[in-house]
Amino acid sequence: MNFVGGHILSIDQFERGDIERIFQVADAMKPYALRHRVTRVLEGAILGNMFFEPSTRTRVSFGSAFNLLGGNVRETTGIQVSALAKGESLYDTARVLSGYSDVICMRHPESGSVAEFAAASRVPVINGGDGSNEHPSQALLDLYTIEKELAAQNRGIDGLRIAMIGDLKYGRTVHSLCGLLALYNNIHVTLVSPVELAMPEEIVERLRQAGHQVVISQELTNAISHVDIAYSTRIQEERFQSKQEADSYRGRFRLNQAIYTQFCEPNTVIMHPLPRDSRADANELDSDLNQNPNLAIFRQTDNGVLVRMALFALVLDVVDQVDKHSHPVTWHHNRGV
Ligand code: NCD
Repeated sequence: MNFVGGHILSIDQFERGDIERIFQVADAMKPYALRHRVTRVLEGAILGNMFFEPSTRTRVSFGSAFNLLGGNVRETTGIQVSALAKGESLYDTARVLSGYSDVICMRHPESGSVAEFAAASRVPVINGGDGSNEHPSQALLDLYTIEKELAAQNRGIDGLRIAMIGDLKYGRTVHSLCGLLALYNNIHVTLVSPVELAMPEEIVERLRQAGHQVVISQELTNAISHVDIAYSTRIQEERFQSKQEADSYRGRFRLNQAIYTQFCEPNTVIMHPLPRDSRADANELDSDLNQNPNLAIFRQTDNGVLVRMALFALVLDVVDQVDKHSHPVTWHHNRGV
């Protein structure tokens, strides 16, 4: 795909070579994300960061990624504090905001809304999550993390064995991740969810059509016993009719250190897009896993900055100029791990 000036709305846009390109650029962003060097390559550029649904890491990491490239960030958070609450259309909002920004990241509760917004925008739009539909930048950072975790075991993504666990019906991160995995070879996917929260049929079909093995299960311990990656997700309670309905699924697939030790292979990597539901009746990933070196959740969040920097650099066509506009960092920068 040609990234320059384009929108990033769906993983359907990507071929395998595009993903490799994004990952290669993400790798090159490390000195800046780690604060070894500073670049001003996007000096003067403005990111419109429009988050009309709750967000911590996606919003802040898109903003930080843009700042790390030297650009400025303008934000709106929440429909109720924007003119959408006054009945303004996505079309008008897009025409207005694209006059103020050089690129826009947007999250919105309705599937398809970000694409509708992008159609009216005069600048590139990146989908930060549209309802239960897609979350392409999260899928990219998840796959980037998978690649790094497996590389540490001298393996590649082809041949991956992964279990996806939890709310697979409404979880947009797993929808997009399955789409990316469909581009690779010989993937074994085990989908663990309550029957009512199963992965949409078209996504399962897409994996099967691509020649991958898909197993559907309602039981955690068997499913996690022969995988490289256990990818847990939160019950997406904001998409349910009632809180009681969402509550009835909470805590079904709890993973803690004792279960991990008993059932997982020693190198199984634990992932989650976050936020994890840490309430006592949920505990998707118990805090007793925090000392487990295979818990990759905070490596995922760190990687998110690299991948989002890469998307900005590609879309705004500055990949080859990043280093030219850089210098060593001037402040204390021992970030630790
Ligand atoms: C996810 C999302 O918003 O879809 N969060 C994120 O962006 N990392 C997952 C979730 O909210 O459960």
